[in-house]
Amino acid sequence: MLKTIRNTWNDLRHLARARDNVLDAWPKSYYRRELIPVRCLHKWMFVVNSPAGVQHVMVGNGKNYRKSPGNTQMLKPLLGNGLFVSEGELWQRQRRMSNPAVHGSRLAGYAQLIAAEGEKMFAGWRARGDGHEEDVTETFTLLTANIISQIMFGFTLGEQRVRLLYEAFVEYQASHGRMHLAEFLGLPAWLPRPGSRRGRRAVEKFDSVLAEILAAGRAAHGGDGPDNFLHMLLAFRDDEGKPMDPGLVRDEMASIFLAGHETTAITLGWALWLLEKHPEVEAKLHAELDQVLGGRAPAFEDVPKLAYTRAVIDETLRLYPPVHAFTRQALGDDEIGGRKIPAGSFVTISSWVLHRHTLWWDEPEVFKPERFLPGAAQKIEQRAYIPFGAGGRICLGKHLGLLESTLLLAMITREFRLRLRPGHPVEPLARMTLRPRHGLPMRITRR
Ligand code: HEM
Repeated sequence: MLKTIRNTWNDLRHLARARDNVLDAWPKSYYRRELIPVRCLHKWMFVVNSPAGVQHVMVGNGKNYRKSPGNTQMLKPLLGNGLFVSEGELWQRQRRMSNPAVHGSRLAGYAQLIAAEGEKMFAGWRARGDGHEEDVTETFTLLTANIISQIMFGFTLGEQRVRLLYEAFVEYQASHGRMHLAEFLGLPAWLPRPGSRRGRRAVEKFDSVLAEILAAGRAAHGGDGPDNFLHMLLAFRDDEGKPMDPGLVRDEMASIFLAGHETTAITLGWALWLLEKHPEVEAKLHAELDQVLGGRAPAFEDVPKLAYTRAVIDETLRLYPPVHAFTRQALGDDEIGGRKIPAGSFVTISSWVLHRHTLWWDEPEVFKPERFLPGAAQKIEQRAYIPFGAGGRICLGKHLGLLESTLLLAMITREFRLRLRPGHPVEPLARMTLRPRHGLPMRITRR
């Protein structure tokens, strides 16, 4: 009896730690182990921590795993049935429909939009003068929100709307971004959760902007309307010739907008902070930019030549993966590494832990972009590195995200030097994404 009470107390303490910041809940030993069964209250959870295990859960036997309902519950009020959370036939149909929006043939055009939006931001920086300070997590979120809206909806958000969306998302993360005990215990969705009213207000703000974008999209949509993702949604007809349900159009817009900007924004923030902490890496980056660009701004054609810049992004995504964990639920009985996984069990893959695992990485805590340079990168175990996930649910915008972050990092560091406010604490906080808990106030000067 005493033992049960003690175990339950320990489980609750573990959950409380995880609720504040999941990263604190990973014990040191996890960074050495390959499969960890965790009993939390009455449920089993398996932490899968090896490339072979990841391959099995996300790729080989991926059909046996669905996204965990607890996690999906957190996103549903905002994303509805959009691509990020849907399952089965609906997901398959919507994924097939969305793929052309991120086809390689479109990337050159997207690069032009990215560069143009980047230039607008720099014009603002130049006007504010050398040495001004900005919280770059916010700056880059506003920038990438403008970019994704241009690319996917052909819509210019402008200062006011983009701020409203930003505030709504921050509010939403504050109310829904944590793992709720209620979700873990599998309590029904209608039970009020802490923060749900605040979350609803955030969704309303968000929806008001989506409605404006949609109205503009419908007005522009015709026989040969603009060729973008919104146009694809509006032009869609199912097997019976019916258009997409308006609610689903809204959900897909919300999903592509949210999945398509914040991740890129925080990647840039972490990369610039890491560069400041590693002057030797920053010097190599500058050398590459000077050599390849010779003082001009980068364009799409330069990106393949910027191998070191890209390696800085890859290494940033290793140490600070914006999507830091994948939670799945087994649909049927399974076995991983000789261990039985009963149907209904939860499986967690933490890219934070996997990317810092002592068995798969040499000097895992060290920021070393060289490991991603051509020649060295081939030695990395394929599924030890999954910043974009793997298998059927792999990130839809992987190539766009990599292009955008590499191009913007090159544009920024070519011209500017960013330095954190002295003494400012930097702590990674795991919410829906992995963000700096106290932001990144940085001083911006010309290089
Ligand atoms: C550095 C930038 C990015 C990172 C690190 C990232 C990461 C991820 C990850 C890890 C997943 C899989 C989640 C899971 O399996 O549970 C995902 C899914 C997704 N991402 Fe990205 N992403 C990035 C940029 C983008 C961009 C630019 C877009 C815009 C097109 C995008 C759209 C999506 C969508 C729609 C999904 C859901 C796909 C599905 O379930 O079929 N992402 N992303």
